[in-house]
Amino acid sequence: MAIPDPGIAPSGSAGPSGRPRVLSGVQPTGALHLGNWLGAIRNWVDLQDSHDTFFCVVDLHAITVPHEPARLAEDTLSTAALYLACGIDPQRSTVFVQSHVSAHSELCWLLNCVTPLNWLERMIQFKEKALKQGADVSAGLLDYPVLMAADILLYDADRVPVGEDQKQHLELARDIAQQRINARFAPRDGEGEPMPILKVPEPPILREGARVMSLTDGRSKMSKSDPNEGSRIALLDPPELISRKIKRAKTDPQMGLEFGNPERPEADNLLGLYALLAGRSREAATAECAAMGWGTFKPLLAEAAVAALAPLQQRYRELRRDPRYLSEVLQQGRERAGNVAEATLERVRQALGFLPPT
Ligand code: TYM
Repeated sequence: MAIPDPGIAPSGSAGPSGRPRVLSGVQPTGALHLGNWLGAIRNWVDLQDSHDTFFCVVDLHAITVPHEPARLAEDTLSTAALYLACGIDPQRSTVFVQSHVSAHSELCWLLNCVTPLNWLERMIQFKEKALKQGADVSAGLLDYPVLMAADILLYDADRVPVGEDQKQHLELARDIAQQRINARFAPRDGEGEPMPILKVPEPPILREGARVMSLTDGRSKMSKSDPNEGSRIALLDPPELISRKIKRAKTDPQMGLEFGNPERPEADNLLGLYALLAGRSREAATAECAAMGWGTFKPLLAEAAVAALAPLQQRYRELRRDPRYLSEVLQQGRERAGNVAEATLERVRQALGFLPPT
């Protein structure tokens, strides 16, 4: 199947028809789960109508913790296929693999050299992951948010739709662009006004689903790295497994589901999941489930989860049957992304004073 080029503008903050830009990505580490979908990918879909959208599979981020080389390529393909299965349309969006566009690594290096070390040392996710890894923490793990800043800034992104756990990283990207590049290196125009080099993205806007919690502990985030698979629902889990995980999900001794009771994080999380998966407002979900026991609620939630994931799983299977199509999508994505990224990188190289090659 041929993929028409939507005509991405080579540089500047707006794409074709002056639309604002969006950039986001997911790491190809393990199976993507409901948190990744509800907190991020699902919100990308609607933005395709109003924005010039770039979605990358961030494989360079995936090696900041120990990884299995034999799985990386397959996980990268599977993540890209899931983007499409979730409704990302390659005719309207640029879908690509981060490591295929070398500008990401190069801009990361340039940004490294202006980013204070203590900005990175105070990143919550670094501290949490470093604690888990003990002595084996790589420099890449510390540097992870700078690479993420490079991802965002290369595309002059206006909006970066992410879940709550990435909020601090997005703020860091804003600070690097504003305080460390534009404030220090922006050239002046004829009137002496600074001409910004990098676009500063908008602050994070968090939507419902921005923090999906674990099924086994309503106080911790649903995460790919939790060793207990029962803590998360993977997007490709078969229906029986989804039902089993929900059946075993942690509950509390109280009857009735409710939002906002700090003593009942599991009720809050599972009711929130039900509202999102069944397409109900929070009020409607509360009205429906306020008097329900867990024994009635859980099958209802399982049914909603299975029904919400079925079309996505079907599309995923179809896409994986056509590897040529997926590889064409990624090849075209690489070209489009590469053009935009290279133009931004060149602006930064020039502003930092590098000798151009002859
Ligand atoms: P990653 O791969 O950990 O997660 C991908 C996206 O899923 C969101 N997410 C969640 N949302 C709600 N509840 C949860 N339990 C949950 N778990 C994960 C994340 O917030 C994220 O939006 N550093 C990023 C990837 C990245 C990126 C970027 C994102 C690299 N470069 C540039 C945006 C722009 C990450 O590790 O996401």
